[in-house]
Amino acid sequence: ASVDKGGHKHFMAKEIAEQPSVLTNALGYYIQDGNIVLPDPGLDFAQIDRLTMVACGTAFYACLVAKYWFEQIARLPVEIDVASEFRYREPPIPKGTAALFVSQSGETADTLAALRYCEGKVDKIVSVVNVPESSIARESDLPLPILAGTEIGVASTKAFTCQLTVLAILAIKAAQDRGHMNADQVAEALEQVKSVPGLMSHALALGERMKTMSRKLAEARDILFLGRGPMYALAHEGALKLKEISYIHAEAYASGELKHGPIALVDEHVPVIVMAPRDALFEKTISNMQEVMARGGKVLLITDKQGAKEAGPGVWDTILMPEVAPFVAPILYAIPAQLLAYHTAVAKGTDVDQPRNLAKSVTVE
Ligand code: G6P
Repeated sequence: ASVDKGGHKHFMAKEIAEQPSVLTNALGYYIQDGNIVLPDPGLDFAQIDRLTMVACGTAFYACLVAKYWFEQIARLPVEIDVASEFRYREPPIPKGTAALFVSQSGETADTLAALRYCEGKVDKIVSVVNVPESSIARESDLPLPILAGTEIGVASTKAFTCQLTVLAILAIKAAQDRGHMNADQVAEALEQVKSVPGLMSHALALGERMKTMSRKLAEARDILFLGRGPMYALAHEGALKLKEISYIHAEAYASGELKHGPIALVDEHVPVIVMAPRDALFEKTISNMQEVMARGGKVLLITDKQGAKEAGPGVWDTILMPEVAPFVAPILYAIPAQLLAYHTAVAKGTDVDQPRNLAKSVTVE
């Protein structure tokens, strides 16, 4: 079936707007009557000792978020790598490893080659894919659909948040299987995941605000993104989106690593976007933010109302997000990352859906 822009100026805008509804589809597929349901043959995380996650691009940043989730709530050691490195470094694979590949298209050449490298070496090959009839899905023991629907914009948006949603549910299942969450805790975590589509609708309503902000960002030559924990992964995704479609140089750093180099870049010409939901690391992130401001840096703080209050004065600008449970904040905070990139690109007049030099699906090495 052909897909149109549904009244939006770009496919990317349409796909950003669709997220609450496609996420709801994914939630309905994996959570039934309050229970996590995987398609056959399923996966018992108590039977594995470690997980290796491999992907490219945006899908890799979904793996980076998921690493924090699996390790924190399920105490499952996770190794992640970009597929082009993984496939050639000939990693030794210990017994008891499951491999998980994340790919929107299911056809990315490096990811597929990494999957084939794992054949016969791992206990199970799992994939998180958008295209169910793709090569990666077909060659997996357990292909898990993300149900995002056709994604046309080269810069991935709804596929990313659907990947995160499926991975969050898998991490909860892992915590349950491995005895780190009881039934009440599982129910609570699932409620948090289910709260995301509604909160996303509120975050999407910030579009106009982001548009104004983006006109200022469009003048920058370099932009830094900072975050800690899973928000470090979101900082990467925000920087990637911005680079891909606005051609502004953007870099992501773990907030705590800033002082070991990139703080040298900070001056009044470099906007620094700080992604700071009120999670366990909030205060540490804010203190890194203050180091940036002390050096004349222009901070765009993304947090909630209470977070903005606690952060104090002196920031360049603030984007006020809805309050959200820290566990699922990475899914929600994808929205401002996407909207800032989108509106900055529109302000610069670039080809948002078909950025130069990029392909939607990279099926050659
Ligand atoms: C290309 C696209 C990216 C995407 C990456 C991985 O580089 O431009 O948006 O994240 O491939 O694609 P996949 O289909 O494997 O998720």
